[in-house]
Parts: sequence; C-alpha cells; structure tokens
Amino acid sequence: GRADLVRALDLIRDIPDFPQPGVLFKDISPLLADGAAVRAVVDAMAAQAGPEVDLVVALEARGFLLGAGVGYARGLGVVPVRKPGKLPAVAHRIDFQLEYGTATFELPADVLSPGARVLVVDDVLATGGTMEAACELVERAGGTVVGVSVVLELAALGGRRRLAGRNVHTLLTV
Ligand code: PRP
Ligand code: MG
Repeated sequence: GRADLVRALDLIRDIPDFPQPGVLFKDISPLLADGAAVRAVVDAMAAQAGPEVDLVVALEARGFLLGAGVGYARGLGVVPVRKPGKLPAVAHRIDFQLEYGTATFELPADVLSPGARVLVVDDVLATGGTMEAACELVERAGGTVVGVSVVLELAALGGRRRLAGRNVHTLLTV
C-alpha cells in the first residue's frame, strides 16, 4: 500500500562522491533488498502504466531488476536493452552521451514487433540520455513508446525536458 511505497522510497540512499568526486549518487540497493519495498515499488510502476502497454523494455543494468517485475505484475513480456557485445543478434544499436562519457545500447533482434506499445523501465532519470536512447531504439524497430517509467527523477539534470512529449511516470522526484 501507500505506506509501504513511502517507506520504500525512503530506503534510497545518498552516496557522496560516487562515481566521481562531487557527485551525490542515489543508491536503490537497500530498496531492492527489502521484500515489501521492492514489491510496493514494482506494483506502483505496474499500476501507473496505462492499459495500452503490451510490452516492457528494460534497460541494462538496474532497469532489468525493475522491468522484469513490472512485466510479471502485468503479465507482459520483457525485452532487454543491452550494453554492447552481449547480444547474439542485434536489431539496432545507438551511441549516446552520458553525464560522464559515452555509451552504447543494443536492442535484440526479432523480439520487438512493429506496432508494439512499449513501456520503457529504468531506475533513475538523470540527464535523460539513457532513456532517450532507449526510446529511439524502440522506435527504430517500429515500436511505439507509450510510457517511460522510473523510480526516481533527478529534476535538476533536466531529463524530463529532454523527454518532452513523452509520457513520463516517476514515483519520486528530487
Ligand atoms: C544510471 C541509471 C540510469 C542512467 C540515468 O545507469 O541506472 O540508467 O544512469 O542517467 P541519465 O538519465 O543521465 O542517462 P548507469 O549508466 O550508471 O548504468 P547501470 O544501470 O548499468 O548501473
Ligand atoms: Mg542504468
């Protein structure tokens, strides 16, 4: 319920100076390690997404932990967007900017059908570079991103602006 969700979000922990000096890292590990908390969070993400969603796309690595739960809760399949070199058959690849450096995502071949109505799931929305790249991959495959869902939004980093026009669900904004 609501009390479990509030308590769950309170388990997110601040780690100073990670991954670089001056950065305050938001660590969801204590939330994930607590059974009632992770259930409350996954159930809330599953409930926020509209009934039109017919596929979950989950982002490596921390998005996997939540996306699999959301897929299970809604009875939907899950497609992993992966870091490079992990997939035996790749449909599309995209390079993107992170807050510090660059990264690459790959979408597996033959599992996202054109016309799929996708919910993209991750843990944190910061600059939005990661989420934007994942949405682009889904769209290249002919899917429609009907929503994106994260536990935590770091508003100062502007991810929501970057995702303007998209349906962004968050459980907590700081
Ligand atoms: C973190 C986080 C999000 C992303 C958000 O992932 O899990 O995926 O950064 O940042 P952005 O909005 O500025 O793109 P990270 O790249 O650290 O990798 P991980 O999930 O594999 O730990
Ligand atoms: Mg991540």
